[in-house]
Amino acid sequence: MMRGMDDVRIGFGEDAHRLAAGRPLVLGGVAIAEAERGAVAHSDGDALLHAIADALLSAWALGDIGHHFPDTDPAHAGLDSSAIVARARAAVAGAAPSARLSQVSAVVTLDRPKLGPHRTAIAEALAALLGLPANRVGLTFKTSEGLAPDHVQARATVLFRAA
Ligand code: C5P
Ligand code: MG
Repeated sequence: MMRGMDDVRIGFGEDAHRLAAGRPLVLGGVAIAEAERGAVAHSDGDALLHAIADALLSAWALGDIGHHFPDTDPAHAGLDSSAIVARARAAVAGAAPSARLSQVSAVVTLDRPKLGPHRTAIAEALAALLGLPANRVGLTFKTSEGLAPDHVQARATVLFRAA
């Protein structure tokens, strides 16, 4: 690599969970109180944080969260999703000490409820978790147009710079 040239890395991650009544819907660490259904999962089922954790790992070719935190390991049962993101960041810091996260861009696909009213809260929660200003956290919300009414799906890209 040329001296002084930035090593720029992008990462992409995706996650989906089935929705069921009697479960909380948590996205980016924010509980969506009016949701009638939430994610079926061992943990809090935060598809957005899981997609971001995978994107962080992928940017540095560090595998995925299932590789780092197998759900067959009882030590990982119910592991808080923000802890998964923190551990993905720690793995990046170990592999690439000069890595600096500079941006996150994510899409959440969910038919109901509308997430727009929660955009600022989710962006601020992600910004705090990731050490970014909220204007570097882009959030797009989409319905599935009825094609996947029983799922919540998240996709995330991250951008890193390293010296
Ligand atoms: O999927 P569709 O293009 O019909 O979504 C229309 C708009 O509704 C989106 O651009 C977004 O602003 C909003 N939306 C939302 N919460 C969702 C799905 C969509 O706020 N769960
Ligand atoms: Mg998940």
